[in-house]
Amino acid sequence: MRPISRRQLLLLGGLGAASTAAGGAGLIWSLSSRPAPATGSQFIQPDELRSEGGQLQVRLEAAPGRLQLAGREVSALGYNGGIPGPTLRVKAGDTLKITLTNSLSQPTNLHVHGLHVSPENNGDNVFVAVGPGTSFDYEYRLPENHSPGLFWYHPHHHGIVADQVFAGLFGAIIVEDPEPIQASAERVLVVSDTAVDGSGSIGAASAMDRMAGREGGLLLVNGQSNPQFSAAPGQRERWRIVNACVARYLMLRLDGQKLQLLGRDSGRFEKPQDVDELILTPGNRADLLVTPAMGDSILRTFRYNRGSMAGMMGVGPAPGSATEGTEGTALATFRVSGESAAAPPALPSQLAPADLRESAVAARRQITLSAGMGMGGGGMMRFTINGREFDAARTDTTAAAGTVEEWTLVNTSPMDHPFHLHVWPMQVIGDDATGSSPDWRDVVNLPANRQVKVRVAFADFRGRSAYHCHILDHEDLGMMGVIEVR
Ligand code: C2O
Ligand code: CU
Ligand code: CU
Repeated sequence: MRPISRRQLLLLGGLGAASTAAGGAGLIWSLSSRPAPATGSQFIQPDELRSEGGQLQVRLEAAPGRLQLAGREVSALGYNGGIPGPTLRVKAGDTLKITLTNSLSQPTNLHVHGLHVSPENNGDNVFVAVGPGTSFDYEYRLPENHSPGLFWYHPHHHGIVADQVFAGLFGAIIVEDPEPIQASAERVLVVSDTAVDGSGSIGAASAMDRMAGREGGLLLVNGQSNPQFSAAPGQRERWRIVNACVARYLMLRLDGQKLQLLGRDSGRFEKPQDVDELILTPGNRADLLVTPAMGDSILRTFRYNRGSMAGMMGVGPAPGSATEGTEGTALATFRVSGESAAAPPALPSQLAPADLRESAVAARRQITLSAGMGMGGGGMMRFTINGREFDAARTDTTAAAGTVEEWTLVNTSPMDHPFHLHVWPMQVIGDDATGSSPDWRDVVNLPANRQVKVRVAFADFRGRSAYHCHILDHEDLGMMGVIEVR
């Protein structure tokens, strides 16, 4: 397989014009607020809970509190008192049982993003609402052939998903590799953004923020601002990165270090691909190998211009314009020093990824995401899929279990939308796919005014679930549809 070029990498996200311009609205950590975020502290990983004997049983309590964020106490929401919540480590074939307790003052629920599990009953059922002061027992059975990788959990109660994620409700899930990859360190980096006001509370979003997709001025890794960690040269580190931001696209670089991408979302390439820049839309994950080279390197994120409704109305930055310096924002600092470590053992070979390009296609559909001016209530624009706003009682798409479908995902709006399908991963087909390797995602970027083709195998599970824009404000505004597989 030929190595991937930077240009292809940009396309890997299905992304057209990438630039350092600003996209969304600005909810900003007010620089005058005291105390300012503490940066440069030692990197901390979320607590880890591991399955044993084929089962992991955990309690997650979603609750408000004074929580540690960027080294200070902030009134926020967390699972089990932390931002992020604990990392859940399971294996293919395991049963994951989660008792979710809602100690919030509003409804919530739980979604296991990317896991290939049943959407029915007390599985990954986003139609369940867990009221304030109540609990719900979720049970997810991972098939024996479940893909290894990084997944995550977050609330999915329609209308307030963005608020709850922005306030701190998210955590990572790891499905272990069948054959472990030897690494001197394995790190989970949950990247989020938020806004904290002068009184130490999470900032509220305006109507404009919601239409653009809110972006917080405070960027965090595991709830920390620019934490640091160190390694010796020549080792092999494994970094698992999730973009848990409500709307912000990450364009990541770690200059001075060698990066190899094992896979994205639940997908895994046959061979790791060399990368120097990586775009993650909200919801996307990256599974990376880092070979430490002497010196200090900063993991930075750069502005990706995803267009904006404001731009469409001529009051915001036009796509392609730069509104921020080119130095990006530091997410974490990686210090490499000392004696060179012995070279790491060879990587276990990966199974060839599934490939639907030659499969018989049972149905072809077009799914169109639009953002319309004016017609909604309260002066909001309408965010629709196939012309309709989300209605939990309506089934928009019915697919036959056991078949493969081809979907043309069309974006008619002047801003990008990251399209996400629950339960069943998507293989990107055609020009937007990465080279010749099958390219699997569960969140696929739809650039402004463009379309992308994907194929989906509706294997293993039946039931009702959802697809939506993973700019969570757009999902809350109605850019979501219901699929039933039967
Ligand atoms: Cu990560 Cu339906 O969402
Ligand atoms: Cu999801
Ligand atoms: Cu969107």
